[in-house]
Amino acid sequence: MLTEEKIRSLVQELKDPFLNKSLKETEGILEIKVKDEKKHVSLKVAIAKTGTSEQLQLQGKIVETLKRSGVESVGLRFSDLPEETLEKFRGQLGGQEKGTSLLNSDTTFIAIASGKGGVGKSTVSVNLAVALARLGKKVGIIDADIYGFSVPDMMGIANRPQVRGEKIIPVDRFGVKVISMAFFVEDNSPVIWRGPMLGKMLNSFFSEVEWGDLDYLLLDLPPGTGDVALDLHTMLPTCKEIIVTTPHPTAAFVAARAGAMALKTDHEIIGIVENMSYFESKVTGEKEYVFGKGGGEKLAEELKAPLLGKLPLEQPDWNKEEFAPSVYEENERLGKIYLEIADKLLAELR
Ligand SMILES: Nc1ncnc2c1ncn2[C@@H]1O[C@H](COP(=O)(O)OP(=O)(O)O)[C@@H](O)[C@H]1O
Ligand SMILES: [Mg+2]
Repeated sequence: MLTEEKIRSLVQELKDPFLNKSLKETEGILEIKVKDEKKHVSLKVAIAKTGTSEQLQLQGKIVETLKRSGVESVGLRFSDLPEETLEKFRGQLGGQEKGTSLLNSDTTFIAIASGKGGVGKSTVSVNLAVALARLGKKVGIIDADIYGFSVPDMMGIANRPQVRGEKIIPVDRFGVKVISMAFFVEDNSPVIWRGPMLGKMLNSFFSEVEWGDLDYLLLDLPPGTGDVALDLHTMLPTCKEIIVTTPHPTAAFVAARAGAMALKTDHEIIGIVENMSYFESKVTGEKEYVFGKGGGEKLAEELKAPLLGKLPLEQPDWNKEEFAPSVYEENERLGKIYLEIADKLLAELR
């Protein structure tokens, strides 16, 4: 029979990854609840720094320890240790500073933003990243849509990143280095983060991931102008932005808000991409403007940024060998347009 006491004795031997003291010493176990006769245990744990790869590692250790003792499922919540506790152990926190950070390298950051969801922002981020890689650039992508992560599925990524020492190694797919919240949740379960944790998560995507040498790092932002977008603006003052819109003039109006926010925080908007611009019949070659017309131009004019390209409606060809449901091949019509957009983008950045 696993009691609360027993659980405590197991978990408290594990160490706070930053302070290198046991959770017993840091009094880091805040709450233990055992439900359904040991089948489900939920824990609240405080550590020195949340939203980090170290937290992920500790998370793994706790789950492993408890499952080995017969617990079927583990619910975990993390919070920060109080300032007094940190004060007590101060000194041990030094030496934890990260090595060379991506934030002060030569990498060009490009955030892909939109006014609302469903306009194809993730599709554009993924295919633009792949197109830049096809043009020989060293490219990474951060799926910063922390609730609605979709990049790994879109690219057909089945494996998870490796952890080497204190660093997370991004997954390489079609020459693009990928990191996503999807890698850190179990079985597609929903992620519940509170506001401040979002920024921390984003921060660790920069500082704790071994990106290597990158020319471009693309960020697929959550839709709208929420917390993550704001954090990003403060974290990456030199970040550039691409705004994705659909062709309807109203959509462009909504997208303009994302653009206005970028401008307010001095992020340079390097271009507009209009997606779902038209449907072109394979039989007659006739174009139908199903979602209206002119949105891209309107937005470009309003934000004084070039229209980098227009993408028609079309699903990628089915590829059995390289399953990646949202990636267009180089020789597909949309694959070619993406290469043109990437070319234009590079010219804008020169
Ligand atoms: N040009 C396009 N043609 C056909 N389907 C598209 C196109 N662009 C996006 N889609 C589809 O529309 C849906 C929403 O796209 P997604 O990239 O997830 O949008 P967002 O990230 O803005 O929410 C997805 O199912 C995607 O496959
Ligand atoms: Mg998306």
